[in-house]
Amino acid sequence: MSTLGVGIIGCGVISTRYLQNAPLFKGIAVRAVADLRADAAAAQAARFKVESVPIAELLARKDIDIVVNLTVPDAHFEVSMRALEAGKHVYSEKPLAISAADGRKLVEAATRRGRQIAVAPDTILGPGHRIARQMIDDGKVGRIVAGTASFMSRGMEHWHPQPSFYFRPGGGPVLDMGPYYITALVQLIGPVKRVVGMSGKALPERVVTAPGPNTGQRIAVDTPTSYFAVLEFEQGALVSANMSWDVYKHGHRPLELHGLDGSLRIPDPNFFAGQVEHTEGRGEWQVRDTRGEPCSRPNHPDADPVQANYRGLGIAEMAAAIRAGRPARTGAAVSQHVLEVMDGIMDAATNGRVVTIGGGVRPPAMTEAETRALLVDPAATT
Ligand SMILES: NC(=O)c1ccc[n+]([C@@H]2O[C@H](COP(=O)([O-])OP(=O)(O)OC[C@H]3O[C@@H](n4cnc5c(N)ncnc54)[C@H](O)[C@@H]3O)[C@@H](O)[C@H]2O)c1
Repeated sequence: MSTLGVGIIGCGVISTRYLQNAPLFKGIAVRAVADLRADAAAAQAARFKVESVPIAELLARKDIDIVVNLTVPDAHFEVSMRALEAGKHVYSEKPLAISAADGRKLVEAATRRGRQIAVAPDTILGPGHRIARQMIDDGKVGRIVAGTASFMSRGMEHWHPQPSFYFRPGGGPVLDMGPYYITALVQLIGPVKRVVGMSGKALPERVVTAPGPNTGQRIAVDTPTSYFAVLEFEQGALVSANMSWDVYKHGHRPLELHGLDGSLRIPDPNFFAGQVEHTEGRGEWQVRDTRGEPCSRPNHPDADPVQANYRGLGIAEMAAAIRAGRPARTGAAVSQHVLEVMDGIMDAATNGRVVTIGGGVRPPAMTEAETRALLVDPAATT
């Protein structure tokens, strides 16, 4: 198997996960890192024993095939476009861009240049969501007709050292956490047809309490911090999505889907594993633990609770797709559809209308064997 060279642009908080995980995957090798802040790139380069280079140099390197864009959301468009124009494939942190119009430009640029652009989350490739999808496809709960998706917390300023991007246009809970839930729903039940929604903002400013140089900083809130939406899927299901940074605590499951013959509780789409539970009609919940599956082992003890976090699996999957000449599972078609849905929810909430979403595809299911084939040592992740 040929190895594709990877260059990372954006050396902030999440880059540590990607750099820690990269050696787990076959067929990719991180060759260099870059950042607007040269000191941030140099620090990650020293820690993970890779080269740190200026951005232009990284884009010009012949031994880099894939640019991984880990910059803040409102820089995704510019950085991904530069990488595509330099002839690179792109794997971007979510979202693809902060507007559907910019997303379309990126997809067109990738198509024109014969390059792939894939976007996080890759958690849908993990065993939690793979097994939930298999249950749906096997008809265990019948045709899905309803569901709920709940992401609600009290914000980001208590843990992220530089959280201002979350509260500017391009931030907010829909563009930040929506990708996990909407991508998961699209892979579980298919494309979205129409959306409605309402939004609100609990506070005009936030105060940073996370430890670091910005503690005590006051951040103006320039984007809604709560959205309550309903998504109608092409196959007929209605799913309510509650996304908020104005909620201290709640008792909702991240994702529940209800079928004609039973119900499903699906693990947190921010992570890779967990328990999939289903019922036959009104029967007891039957638990399917994903322990023992590839990418299920809790691997980051700094997370609370300890979770399976194999971010980067999607880069290896995209590399395999490039070698095979097929679209990546989290590629342009899926990520642009997810962005159209998020754009639609924000449009619906701002303008008080029902928004019709066009196109969209359900990515092909990933098998356990395909996951194993992407891992250097599958047993180390079970
Ligand atoms: N922090 C997390 O736990 C987490 C988890 C999953 C996904 N993400 C996503 O990852 C991305 C980055 O998040 P983060 O928390 O690491 O942010 P961060 O602010 O910690 O880091 C972003 C880095 O990008 C750099 N940057 C900004 N604009 C740039 C540009 N134009 N060119 C080059 N470098 C640029 C910044 O200097 C900074 O070092 C976001 O899209 C976020 O949604 C973050």
